[in-house]
Amino acid sequence: MVKLQNPDFDREFESIIKEIKKEILPTEEETSRGIKAKQELEKRLKEVRKEYPYLKYRFLGSFPRNTWIKGNLEIDLFILFPEETSEDDLEKIGLEIGRRILDEQEERFASHPYVHGKVMGVEVDVVPCYELKSAEKIKSAVDRTPFHHDWVSERIKGKEDEVRLLKAFLKASDIYGAEYKVRGFSGYLCELLILHYGNFKNLVKKACNWKRGLVIDVAKGREYFDDEIEALFVVDPVDKKRNVAANLSLDSMAKFVEKCRDFYLKPEKNFFLKKEAKVGVDLKNELKKRASNILAIVFERPNIVEDNLYTQLERAKNKLFEFLKTNDFMPLNAGYFVSQDKCMLIFETQVREISKIKKVVGPPFEEWVHVKKFKERNRPYRPFLENGRYYAFDWRRFTTPVEAIKDYIERYPRSLGKNISKVISNYELVEDENVINLKIPGFQEFLVNFLKLKG
Ligand code: UTP
Ligand code: MN
Ligand code: MN
Ligand code: MN
Repeated sequence: MVKLQNPDFDREFESIIKEIKKEILPTEEETSRGIKAKQELEKRLKEVRKEYPYLKYRFLGSFPRNTWIKGNLEIDLFILFPEETSEDDLEKIGLEIGRRILDEQEERFASHPYVHGKVMGVEVDVVPCYELKSAEKIKSAVDRTPFHHDWVSERIKGKEDEVRLLKAFLKASDIYGAEYKVRGFSGYLCELLILHYGNFKNLVKKACNWKRGLVIDVAKGREYFDDEIEALFVVDPVDKKRNVAANLSLDSMAKFVEKCRDFYLKPEKNFFLKKEAKVGVDLKNELKKRASNILAIVFERPNIVEDNLYTQLERAKNKLFEFLKTNDFMPLNAGYFVSQDKCMLIFETQVREISKIKKVVGPPFEEWVHVKKFKERNRPYRPFLENGRYYAFDWRRFTTPVEAIKDYIERYPRSLGKNISKVISNYELVEDENVINLKIPGFQEFLVNFLKLKG
């Protein structure tokens, strides 16, 4: 019998929850560090206001809402510009203010550039946005944030720890964050899910039976299905047309459902704690057992924002995978890995070397025109019939995956993405055991995952 019920879930959940909260609730020390940093920011902003008296500022995101998790303190400061400000001015002045009030700052990019830095050791994002009358007429995605805050901040009172439980649960499974790299749940989405389901425990129970195409209308307190939706649609209470879960991939949704099921059947503390990734397998031996071909293309990391980089890597990965497939190398899996200064595309093929000769499929004999054309092609061997269809032997262009990849990169670099194409000409091709020996932080753990080893 497959067990899908746990009548003791509520009791088991309550018995571990205290301990979990100890791990995820910010300490008083952390909170007061946040408050002090905020006061310091306000002081620095007073100076800025002298020069730009028409600007407003607001503290938004998880800090003022009390929904950040322990060790993840970060202040989101939004600078609100009047609607008639030009985009150039918003960007220029926004960045200037960020640079002026933050220490250790660096430029980052969301829908427009913003500045990330620190104040009194606390992480701060300074984000310029437009001050608008309605969230339905926004100019860029960050302009919605003040409306999100206004909708959520009162409603979430009393449920902050529920949000934290959810964030920690998601973080432990690597599906917290809406950025392309993660394609998971954003902080705002977590808050809306808690508001819709009332608390974390109830969300877990309900999510065990989530199906793709689910639409959650939080403002109306309603759920329904829509075939057109690939994964999940959470209607933004401040803009009905907008899906708050737009960046959530189908697989991240599935992973969440699976985690909820596992947790429901056996609630344990470790669902909220990130496992220390450690390599407990002999990778060299694993590769030998598989007798496949592992190939890594290593190149310099282009200096572009993460979301853009990951989109291009995804594209490059798919292009090369398809090329390996059409050339009969039977790829098993493809992936990419990014470090501080390097990028890597990695492939595993079932074939490491294939004959020079291949069999080409031609038309059935009835198709006179096609048959004629097929027979007229210049080939090293004559065409032949088999069960009423023409075939021919021909030479392959490549007999190893390495040859195929080299050729592809040389001929179609542009198809691998705008910025990748500029740096990939200087690539290094690493094979099999040499891949394991690459000394890049975090890469061994990535390999264990890439090869789907049990860990
Ligand atoms: P955060 O990513 O800081 O999320 O974005 P959060 O809700 O504060 O959760 P934590 O920090 O992980 O606990 C803060 C707000 O800024 C907007 C979002 O609307 C979000 O609510 N934002 C942030 C964007 O619109 N785009 C971005 O790239 C980043
Ligand atoms: Mn934040
Ligand atoms: Mn954040
Ligand atoms: Mn932020």
